[in-house]
Amino acid sequence: MKPKVYITRKLPESIINKIEEVCQVRMWKEENEPVPREVLLHEIEQADGLFCLLTEVIDREVLNAANKLKVIANMAVGYNNIDTEEAAKKDIIVTNTPDVLTETTADLTFALLMSTARRIVESSTYLKEGNWKTWSPMQLSGQDINGAKLGIIGMGRIGKALIERAKGFNMDVSYYNRSRKLDVEEAFNVTFLDKDSLLKESDFICILVPYSPEVHHFIGERELRLMKNSAILINTARGGIVDENALFHALKNEEIWGAGLDVFKEEPVSLENPLLSLPNVTALPHIGSSSEATRLEMADLTAENLIQVLVGKKAITPVNG
Ligand code: NAP
Ligand code: GLV
Repeated sequence: MKPKVYITRKLPESIINKIEEVCQVRMWKEENEPVPREVLLHEIEQADGLFCLLTEVIDREVLNAANKLKVIANMAVGYNNIDTEEAAKKDIIVTNTPDVLTETTADLTFALLMSTARRIVESSTYLKEGNWKTWSPMQLSGQDINGAKLGIIGMGRIGKALIERAKGFNMDVSYYNRSRKLDVEEAFNVTFLDKDSLLKESDFICILVPYSPEVHHFIGERELRLMKNSAILINTARGGIVDENALFHALKNEEIWGAGLDVFKEEPVSLENPLLSLPNVTALPHIGSSSEATRLEMADLTAENLIQVLVGKKAITPVNG
């Protein structure tokens, strides 16, 4: 008997075929709609393996509904959507997709930084809406990227890949992380700063730390007040790390200059979210890792992790043992 797998979203054919070679597959077949909670709770009862996305909350209720689950393979590097401690208690392996998305996400982070600083989306809209009447001296003027000070919060895989992009623009890079990264400091000539000093000194602040209760609202009213009036905040990590209400007020009152957001507290973000009404916010629908090649690699690694555990081998990239 092949093990039973539930897949929570329609996947590319090649990935489904790969899983079907070893498993019996059931799948939520919609591409643009997440699996309803009641369907997931029902499907998990008989599943040996789960292939899920960051949109699925795998909490105690889901884990309790599972009778024989051995592996949860998350198609994302972040896994704050999964109660990993509870999974470990039940001997369920949880896996994620590190490395394969590092460069693509660093690209998007830097693109969002550039786009926000040089008002690219706003300028394009300005032109298309027929507002471009003439060239004028301070029209749509932004902030310089070359030579500016970049502060990175979270010096892991993506943070490190971001340094390489920033160095190409001659930026002066510092970072804050819970542990010092002396190898990175030496290799890239970057400086470790405490959190407050980084916020005070940086022109650009990029958040690349995983979400956990420890970093909930890591950037709030106090932190925003420390930043320069010309500072730009970029968040490609998780929405809950920034207090969105405090960010709205800081942007509205010109306490900081702009923000580039790929992630939000609630996703998909409501059009009622006041941040979307601000011209100095560049907002994206969580596309950090979204290149065709990278999303395929992520799906493939997720499938590999799932299969490995179900055939009794070690997961390739486990997060909990
Ligand atoms: P990573 O390699 O695990 O790096 C995370 C870094 O954050 C590590 O250096 C870690 O420090 C540090 N850190 C963890 N908790 C901290 C805390 N409480 N205070 C200070 N530093 C802390 O992760 P990654 O691959 O770079 O990915 C980072 C995050 O980016 C993911 O978790 C995900 O949320 C997000 N992401 C988003 C997208 C997107 O589509 N927008 C795509 C990919 C990733 P230690 O070295 O001391 O453990
Ligand atoms: C995306 O947000 C990821 O964590 O991979």
